Amino acid sequence: MTTTALILAAGKGTRMRSSLAKVLHPLCGRPMAGWVLTACSDAGLTPTLVVGHQADRVRDTFPGVPTALQAEQNGTGHAVACAAEVLPRQGTLVVLAGDTPLVRGATLTALVEAHTRTGALCTVLTMKVDEPGAYGRIVRGATGVERIVEAANASVEELAIDEVNSGMYAFDAAWLLDEVIPHLVPHPPKNELYLTDAIEAAAAAGRLDAACHDDADELMGVNDKAALAVATKVLRDRINLGWMEAGVTMHDPAQTYIDATVSLEQDVTLEPGVVLKGSTTIATGTQVFAHSVLEDATVGPDCKVGPFARLRPGTVLTSRVKVGNFVETKKAVLHDKVSAGHLSYLGDTEIGAGSNIGAGTITCNYDGFGKHRTEIGERAFIGSNSSLVAPVVIGADTIVAAGSTITNNVADDALALARARQKNLAGKAQDIHRRNKERAEK
Ligand code: UD1
Ligand code: CA
Repeated sequence: MTTTALILAAGKGTRMRSSLAKVLHPLCGRPMAGWVLTACSDAGLTPTLVVGHQADRVRDTFPGVPTALQAEQNGTGHAVACAAEVLPRQGTLVVLAGDTPLVRGATLTALVEAHTRTGALCTVLTMKVDEPGAYGRIVRGATGVERIVEAANASVEELAIDEVNSGMYAFDAAWLLDEVIPHLVPHPPKNELYLTDAIEAAAAAGRLDAACHDDADELMGVNDKAALAVATKVLRDRINLGWMEAGVTMHDPAQTYIDATVSLEQDVTLEPGVVLKGSTTIATGTQVFAHSVLEDATVGPDCKVGPFARLRPGTVLTSRVKVGNFVETKKAVLHDKVSAGHLSYLGDTEIGAGSNIGAGTITCNYDGFGKHRTEIGERAFIGSNSSLVAPVVIGADTIVAAGSTITNNVADDALALARARQKNLAGKAQDIHRRNKERAEK
């Protein structure tokens, strides 16, 4: 029997001060609630999302994940009530928040195992923190945990408690949904139904288990942009450590930014300031030099990219390709050993193996209405500062003279010269200098 995880993701996240719902904020390229979904999938849990604020957008972000609607957000207990209809009554129900992106699958597996072992009605994961801030406080009495008190409702003594609620629980599903949730009562200051009241109910029945997790960072809830940055850093470190263990060399992992969706091979080298986004893949032996940004790019083996290169979506470098400083590529396929060393824009183009793209080469792919393609054959030599006005086809083994503006196709083996012929006028410079000097002295 699979265990369901209900992920509460209907809140606006007021403290984020953002027009984007909190649970959609990306961390290392994956939306916040997406990290919780990944942890669920790692733990073999079947997720259901409670959506409300920006419900359509949240649904569209996680296609295939079943959802329940909480049209008005009247608290975490109310969120569970809104999903009660669609949830199974057998076995264990895990309840999580969509704003805890650091939780690991293994922790959820351990939570479910502990819950099953003890036969509790509720198992709550707690943690000890230096600054309990807005977290719900775990109130312990003679017999163990008695209840959770929200910071907004806590006494001065309770506010000093450093053991707090992670917002992650395993429940006896039928008990929670049929015996507790229907009886929740609203709390001040916002008249919300608190899921945390279920903890008190389980304690009263003598069947509450509380497990204090030793890695408090992993359970952190993200409520504002400062916490978002802290959580992003933790995920970045985890991602980078994973790639270093897989054989990627990083000169400074603290300054290397890799989305969760990127894929790398061993002996890739990344210099500081490198940003790898989206579906980027990089094969073995490739070096990405400082401050290069790659998004949805496919880079083959033994390439050299950057420093200061920008590979935009649809870039493919097959193998041993060189893309140097201030070169931007988009929907560009550069075959083996192509070299584009400096200051170029290569968009909507395919460039044959062995071609050399001179400094300052621009594919003029946009005419104000549509995008057009530039095809360059193998072993072509494109001289510096050439403008290739698309659509245009430049054959194999061609030479385009430096400074050319190419508007017509160039046949294989041809030399294309498309610039004004140079005239040298003997002594003329001196005449002009003299005249300018006289004018200035008048
Ligand atoms: C909640 C807990 C608190 C715990 C903390 C852990 C309650 C009452 N408080 O507080 O004890 O220490 O999490 O991080 O449960 N949500 C809905 N519908 C709502 C309200 C919230 O779906 O009506 C969702 C939010 O989108 C969010 C999650 O529930 O993902 C938690 O809500 P939030 O407002 O962040 O609760 P906290 O104040 O952090
Ligand atoms: Ca929270």
